[in-house]
Amino acid sequence: MFDLTGKKALVTGGSRGMGRSIAEAYHEMGAEVVIIATSDKVMDVAKEIASDGKAPVHGVVADLSDRDQLKRAFNESVELLGGRLDILFNNAGINRNHTCSDFTEEDFDLIRKVNYDAVFLLSQLAGNLMIKQNYGRIINMASLLSVIGGRMSLGYAAAKGGVVQMTKAMSNEWAKHNVTVNCIAPGYMNTDMNKEYCADLSRSGHLLARIPVGRWGVADDIKAASVFLASEEAGYVTGVMLPVDGGFLGW
Ligand SMILES: NC(=O)c1ccc[n+]([C@@H]2O[C@H](COP(=O)([O-])OP(=O)(O)OC[C@H]3O[C@@H](n4cnc5c(N)ncnc54)[C@H](O)[C@@H]3O)[C@@H](O)[C@H]2O)c1
Repeated sequence: MFDLTGKKALVTGGSRGMGRSIAEAYHEMGAEVVIIATSDKVMDVAKEIASDGKAPVHGVVADLSDRDQLKRAFNESVELLGGRLDILFNNAGINRNHTCSDFTEEDFDLIRKVNYDAVFLLSQLAGNLMIKQNYGRIINMASLLSVIGGRMSLGYAAAKGGVVQMTKAMSNEWAKHNVTVNCIAPGYMNTDMNKEYCADLSRSGHLLARIPVGRWGVADDIKAASVFLASEEAGYVTGVMLPVDGGFLGW
């Protein structure tokens, strides 16, 4: 089960953190993968992952907050994959911290463009191709802040809440085409995005204390759920938000 040999996958924000782990997991399971990221470091990452010769991994540089670049990157990715796309993982995301009173319009707009607009635009492009193929798996990156409001993360929480609703709306219409749309809600993961926060227990210790598994997540904790939702065998699972949070939401 869960073999992805021959499948064509696109992972956004795969140059580091969880996106890199997801790209590695799809590669390990046999898929050909394209990684989109803002930095041209993505080319080296693609080479590193592909170095075992198992299946090709390609890098594409694009800023997904720019709609023209996003469309160019999608077309380039599908071309690299030979015109087919079986799996899209919308992982790229950013956060900016301000109080609600001080949240700047610039940061609100930027977060919305990367965490929300890009998920809509890429899912629509991919979904329409997958409908023609009569097969597809779309997975979006949600968050605990899709459910709880948090603090100092107004733009992020609003965008991630919307990602869950977008996931459900798309899953309802596309299920009949054998295209599933799901999302994963990671808990507090010790990636570059959160490193300083996780290390400063005077700010984050209360959160650690309510994670039943008893530790912060690491990027590789996302691999199993990413492969499961991308697999053919998960064809009867659609419209769900799967928490990978060490039990946080059940506390
Ligand atoms: N770290 C956590 O605790 C946590 C928790 C829940 C959800 N998430 C979400 O998981 C995803 C990955 O987070 P991470 O912790 O691995 O973050 P990270 O900061 O380590 O990686 C983010 C990736 O997104 C890419 N990216 C950012 N802006 C982009 C843009 N404009 N265009 C293209 N690519 C862009 C970066 O190049 C990078 O590869 C994000 O959507 C994040 O919101 C993270």
